Amino acid sequence: MKKLLAIVLSLVMVLGLFAGCGAKEEAPATEAPAAPAAPAETEAAEVSYMDQLIADAQAEGTLVVYGSCEEEYLAVACEKFQELYGIEVQYQRLSTGEVQSKVEEEAGNPSGDVWFGGTTDPYNVCAAEGLLEAYEAENASHLLGQAYRDADGYWYGIYKGILGFMVNVDELERMGLEKPADWADLTKPEYQGLIWLSNYNTSGTAKLVINTMIQKYGHDEGIQYLVDLDKNIHVYTKSGSGPSKNVGTGECVIGIGFLHDGITQIVDNGYGNVELIIPSSGTSYEIGATAIFKGCEHPNAAKLWIEFALSPDCVNLAQDNGSYQFLVIDNATQPAIATEFGLDPENVMDYDFEDAKNNITTYVEEVFTALGDSADDRFKTE
Ligand code: G6P
Repeated sequence: MKKLLAIVLSLVMVLGLFAGCGAKEEAPATEAPAAPAAPAETEAAEVSYMDQLIADAQAEGTLVVYGSCEEEYLAVACEKFQELYGIEVQYQRLSTGEVQSKVEEEAGNPSGDVWFGGTTDPYNVCAAEGLLEAYEAENASHLLGQAYRDADGYWYGIYKGILGFMVNVDELERMGLEKPADWADLTKPEYQGLIWLSNYNTSGTAKLVINTMIQKYGHDEGIQYLVDLDKNIHVYTKSGSGPSKNVGTGECVIGIGFLHDGITQIVDNGYGNVELIIPSSGTSYEIGATAIFKGCEHPNAAKLWIEFALSPDCVNLAQDNGSYQFLVIDNATQPAIATEFGLDPENVMDYDFEDAKNNITTYVEEVFTALGDSADDRFKTE
């Protein structure tokens, strides 16, 4: 039933997106809202910042969201915002790297207003390229620490996800293979053709894997590791959650990705043959983020979205809609199920966001160079 509702909602919203985009070209409504009269000084003091922001956002009427979290969560978050503020929300799910490419192409004239979810590395690249708008959010006071925001307000954290492996235990048993325990195991010849990962071009998850391996093994060894791993990879999917979605059916025997996506397959989709593995030598994590695109058409609705995304109204929707990341504000309800599956937000390596921010674009190029021409076809995206 939940799935059916989500599908109907997605259709309605996707149709809305196209209708909305078309509508942007049309002549403005004949009854344009009257410009608000300058409030008297006493009156102005009584209007709180949030009340004023809501009014300004409502005057803009529409918000366009590019979401890089799972679509089910994205859809309900957009629906909730629309319901709370009466602002029409149009959305589209794109992988983190795809949003980055899109806003880079749009070069300061973005078709979207805000970015919701997805790993931080591409957000940092866009911020450095001047494609995000800084905003000091009121609700940032609820963040669990300064690590969960950009120092200059270009993005704010909304969740934390742990990287690892998801395996199909039936298939491994049938093949007489041990479960991989650590990153180094994944390059063993017995796993040839059994592993899936996402695409370094499109997926923020895959970019995080590159940074993690370079930080874990050192620059040259990290890239060599990815070349060795490539020999065992059967499919590179466009989205980070792609591998997790194919483990239960056995098409993918070992998936690399976020472990909360594996929980979704076990709990929501009933795949009892899927097991989560936290790499024994340690793993890294994502901070899922949200941000405003610089030069967007609905800047006040965009700011209001950031306040909403940093509130329980938004983030508490995640765990009821198949997204089990840890939450990063102090007034949210953590997904107990993630802890039941052995995940611990503190049991992660000291991921160097600064190195990732400064070098990921180069690292991706270096990985492709190291993989050589033979890899070209495997990473093509439409
Ligand atoms: C999934 C995960 C999110 C993650 C996202 C990254 O949706 O549930 O936690 O942020 O993947 O997506 P991408 O397709 O860019 O790897």
